[in-house]
Amino acid sequence: MDGNGRWAEMRGLPREEGHREGSTSVREVTRCARRVGVQALTLYAFSSQNWARPAEEVAALMDLLREYLESERAEILENGIRLNAIGEVEKLPRFVKEPLDRLRADSANNTGMVLTLALSYGGREELAQAARRMAEAACKGELTPAQLDTQTFESYLWTNGLPPLDLVVRTSGEQRISNFLLWQLAYAELCFSDVLWPDFRTEAFLRCLAQYQQRERRFGLTSAQVKREDSHRAKA
Ligand code: IPE
Ligand code: MG
Repeated sequence: MDGNGRWAEMRGLPREEGHREGSTSVREVTRCARRVGVQALTLYAFSSQNWARPAEEVAALMDLLREYLESERAEILENGIRLNAIGEVEKLPRFVKEPLDRLRADSANNTGMVLTLALSYGGREELAQAARRMAEAACKGELTPAQLDTQTFESYLWTNGLPPLDLVVRTSGEQRISNFLLWQLAYAELCFSDVLWPDFRTEAFLRCLAQYQQRERRFGLTSAQVKREDSHRAKA
């Protein structure tokens, strides 16, 4: 979700106003994803690197997060959404961590859509903690080097239990990954939208989904193989 700051600066507003407007996009995109049947939606709300922004901006983002967790609580619960979080969430201030934990617990049995907030999240940080925990398990004799395949590795990631990543959308015209879901990106489709996040609403989101539907995902196979598999699946 990129471009909040630029959206505000273009209007001569403080950057915080861009973040506030961006939270309306979060609400719209979440509603739309739920409506069209997306199984899992992950929002990169705050990166490990964002802590280094000016203290006032970090504080405003934390305030906004708390507001969001309170204002969206009822709708999330009513719509069968399970709220999840990935990242170093223990670094969040208590006034964010508390409503986050409460909503995570209260929505734990919902099966409609998993809404994951990436908070104090970094892909490298995720990989490093996985390696650290695997090394710890190995030291204790609970894991042997030979057991360490891609499946075992994945079970140590924060995203363990989430479905495979299908589509990544980055807004605001930047064409880079910025430490998001580095492992999980392996076969994800990428969509770069020029729209700034505060302007990224239902229409822009549906345009990305439509693009995604046009892609042929081959996972290393040939196009002919994929088409054959598809037709078998259609017959079954
Ligand atoms: C994304 O918008 C929101 C967060 C990082 C929390 P930015 O704040 O990065 O907006 P730009 O890139 O400065 O426009
Ligand atoms: Mg940015």
